[in-house]
Amino acid sequence: MENMRLEDNTPWTIPILLDVNKEAIKGVEEGDAVFLQNKEKGVVAEMNVEEIYTMDKKKLAEVVYGTTDASHPGVANTYKMKDTLLGGNITLLAVGDHPFDGYMLWPKETRELFSKKGWKEIVAFQTRNPPHIGHEYVQKTALTFVDGLFINPLIGRKKQGDFKDEVILASYEELLKYYYPPERVMMSILRTSMKYAGPREAVHHAIMRKNFGCTHFIVGRDHAGVGDFYSPYAAHEIFSQFPDLGIKPLFFRSFFYCRRCGGVVNEKICPHSEEERINFSGTRIRQLFRQGKTPPPEMMRKEVAEAILSFSHPFLE
Ligand code: ADX
Repeated sequence: MENMRLEDNTPWTIPILLDVNKEAIKGVEEGDAVFLQNKEKGVVAEMNVEEIYTMDKKKLAEVVYGTTDASHPGVANTYKMKDTLLGGNITLLAVGDHPFDGYMLWPKETRELFSKKGWKEIVAFQTRNPPHIGHEYVQKTALTFVDGLFINPLIGRKKQGDFKDEVILASYEELLKYYYPPERVMMSILRTSMKYAGPREAVHHAIMRKNFGCTHFIVGRDHAGVGDFYSPYAAHEIFSQFPDLGIKPLFFRSFFYCRRCGGVVNEKICPHSEEERINFSGTRIRQLFRQGKTPPPEMMRKEVAEAILSFSHPFLE
């Protein structure tokens, strides 16, 4: 947790924890095997229990999230966890059905597909939002330099007020249909939860995309951030501590629309003042949709906005 590495020095920035009810593991000792089950599907895995332990939640919050403030959604989830944790090797026994299975590819499958397409360099894009024009530019700029783009929306637990998973996927379908070259772009989902841990989560996101067979990973402005908890480019700086990551981060300054340039640019290539800018603010976009308004075409593709508006309740409650 503190060194951001496993014992064998592998980069690993976010601990993955299994919290359990004390009563549920009554009589279980280290060295035993237990079945893991969930309400819907019954037994899904077997775990060899190597360690039964507790944690200092406040310390975890401080170290991983950089704050103990419970208004941070990742910190709030940490505080809600049960006090006993189990650690050990897990063997998956039953995959089962999940929502959005049609979009799911396993790392073995994505690697095979990349190879079949003849892609040697593949850039991965993490997202938890429907695409605005800034997302599109960051992806297309990166794709200019490599063979393929792997769009990999995160599907799973997110915070209240975020877009629902089905809205993200439906809006990407529209963007891909009308604005992307199909022979150079692929989309599938990543099933996990958002932690909103900013820089540490950016590295964790990169590691997961390396597992899918990607060679490059996009890190833009305030990656995996929430509110003002992280400085906008903290998620760029952290990567200098991981020269051995095995996937190359591609850093982007924030894209925006500049009226004087008449196009989408970033501060590296635009000489004009801030007054000329239309920023692609996620908060502003959500606000417009809440009022039943369509964001202007400088901010979002018409087809994407229409896909979002076709949902009567696009946000998580
Ligand atoms: S995140 O929580 O998954 O990071 P989001 O889906 O909004 O949120 O962002 C996906 C990726 O696009 C991140 O790498 C983020 O930094 C980047 N990004 C978002 N907006 C912009 C922008 N205007 N300019 C450049 N990169 C951006």
